[in-house]
Amino acid sequence: MLTETTKAKGLADLPPVKSDSLLELIALCNADPRPEKIDVGVGVFRDDQGKTPILKVMKEAEQRLLDTQQTKSYLGSAGDKRFTELLRPILLGEHADDDRIAGLQTPGGCGALRLGFELIATVNREARVLVGTPTWPNHPPIIKAVGLSAVEYPYYERGQGAIRFDDMLAALRSAAPGDVALLHGCCHNPTGADLDEEQWRQVRDAVIDRGLIPLVDIAYQGFGRGLEEDAYGVRLMLESCDDVIIAQSCDKNFSCYRDRVGSLWIKTGSKEATATAMAHVFQRAREMWSMPPDHGAAAAHIILEDPALHERWLVELAGMRDRINAVRQRIAAADPRLAFIGRQFGMFSMLPLSKDQVLKLREDHAIYMADSGRFNVVGMSDEQIGRFTTAVVAALNG
Ligand SMILES: Cc1ncc(COP(=O)(O)O)c(C=O)c1O
Repeated sequence: MLTETTKAKGLADLPPVKSDSLLELIALCNADPRPEKIDVGVGVFRDDQGKTPILKVMKEAEQRLLDTQQTKSYLGSAGDKRFTELLRPILLGEHADDDRIAGLQTPGGCGALRLGFELIATVNREARVLVGTPTWPNHPPIIKAVGLSAVEYPYYERGQGAIRFDDMLAALRSAAPGDVALLHGCCHNPTGADLDEEQWRQVRDAVIDRGLIPLVDIAYQGFGRGLEEDAYGVRLMLESCDDVIIAQSCDKNFSCYRDRVGSLWIKTGSKEATATAMAHVFQRAREMWSMPPDHGAAAAHIILEDPALHERWLVELAGMRDRINAVRQRIAAADPRLAFIGRQFGMFSMLPLSKDQVLKLREDHAIYMADSGRFNVVGMSDEQIGRFTTAVVAALNG
């Protein structure tokens, strides 16, 4: 007979899980009946009407896909290989022809990050991951899930809207060979504070001096300065380092969030070593999801393959970028204390507000943002911007 102590654990013995604060925020906002509510917590692009439309080129490509797709047979762990080939020049630029770089399609940027860290854990369980804080809240759990440890350093000074670059360099310089430098390629989430080119070069020098492996997470290429400009850090690392890992997402720049379109890229010092690394990557992918979902990447493939659609994608992408930057300028002009927002990039910035002030904005003005003060600059419609800035400035005035 089983005693109390030997009784096997059942599913009912699972401990509670701390819920995701951003998902909680979305639920709270959805439940708020006030029609004037402003949701700047969610991380998706919204247009001047406050909508997240499907890109016109995406709709057209999806129609073509529907009309022409002959089979839904398996594609294999690499996913749509032609899609990855078409991404090469966009992401890798002048390194597109380097045969030491290989990529595969993944389920979004999340899948790419998970797979990249799995590869690190496969080669070196002792490697630590240097993470500048604040960072995207899903980075630490992904690192932990593969059994690696994260070493956090302060990346950003919230009140000043500035990068704590000396702290960043000091942290990288004190890391051990083989440790991983997790870097945001562009449009830093949650701060919007991107490294400038000189800072990227200094980071590159520290990475080389200490023998670190850069893992660049680039989820917003084209949302900051431009498609080419936003890839500066990725390409600098490729130019300078033997081992580089890039986790890429198309979910934002093709506005196909739920379709889960991304890719992982591996560079080593030789074509042969890259082939071996990719064999491990395929093995890990096979264990986790076997192969990525096809639909979004198949549609992106059609867009990138067709010169006319490709061109129209660039125009629609520029439209999203222009709106992000125009809203940034409007918010920045509202008060000198918000001027830093006009110098930052991508969808997110952090307001120098306390948790109580954030809660008060929620209660008094139905403005929903993360407790940290992180907000999505294009979470609101054009019409809501004035009310948002007035409420935020009043909160800053205390
Ligand atoms: C910094 C960063 N990396 C990766 C991702 C993952 O993107 P995806 O939705 O493609 O998984 C996100 C999404 O919000 C992000 O902000």
